[in-house]
Amino acid sequence: MSISREQQLQYLEAMGIQAWTARQADPAVPVEPQPAAMESPAPAPGKADEPVPEAPTPDVFAASSDVAGLDWPALEARVSDCRLCDLHSSRTQTVFGVGNRNADWLIIGEAPGHDEDQQGEPFVGRAGQLLNAMLQAVGLQREQVYIANILKCRPPNNRDPKPEEVVCCEPYLLRQIELIRPRLILAVGRIAAQNLLNTQTPIGKLRGEVHRFRDTGIPLIATYHPAYLLRSPLEKRKSWQDLQLAVRTLQEQNG
Ligand code: URA
Repeated sequence: MSISREQQLQYLEAMGIQAWTARQADPAVPVEPQPAAMESPAPAPGKADEPVPEAPTPDVFAASSDVAGLDWPALEARVSDCRLCDLHSSRTQTVFGVGNRNADWLIIGEAPGHDEDQQGEPFVGRAGQLLNAMLQAVGLQREQVYIANILKCRPPNNRDPKPEEVVCCEPYLLRQIELIRPRLILAVGRIAAQNLLNTQTPIGKLRGEVHRFRDTGIPLIATYHPAYLLRSPLEKRKSWQDLQLAVRTLQEQNG
């Protein structure tokens, strides 16, 4: 899908980064290189038509043996019945994930918040609206990607996930990754990036480069969480760079 420059400017404006255009006219401020996505049509985000050969299952999925082999309906049912950690007692409902199950892009956030817990869908609140705008800025509709979280249940008062909660929930996410076989994972926020990469490195150091998701070889790019961007709009420029890096990474991968 390609979007017009006008549409792209609208999306960028929705992200709150319209200042980039103005700044180029300001000789007092160093000029950033023109964002490539502003100049060229957005890349086609769909998967290449040719069949993808079955790859051997990487070891990372061995840990999910309890859910290994579950298909989508069985996995979704298992998640909605899950009582492995205490979060089941405070949730309204589980938040499984949403989107294209054959997506190139898998977006992984932290955990459901209030709105997501109510609606049963990830990223539907204000942060979700910004995430949608970020995706649209690189030519992606929300429906084209798959969106999930590290946790399927809302932590009370939106506190950080506890390690034991992450451990309980991880097999579900790993099975989703195995079923989707995305070409790229975008980890949004510190919690997602650190857990997926098994590191304590700050998000500011993880972003801006291409990692690999454990032993799958899937490229993983970390960026700031949209909720953080709502509080710190000046960081949107870096997230835009991360998204462009993601687009380039996919383009290079698709050859
Ligand atoms: N923040 C997240 O990390 N995930 C959601 O689904 C909503 C807000």
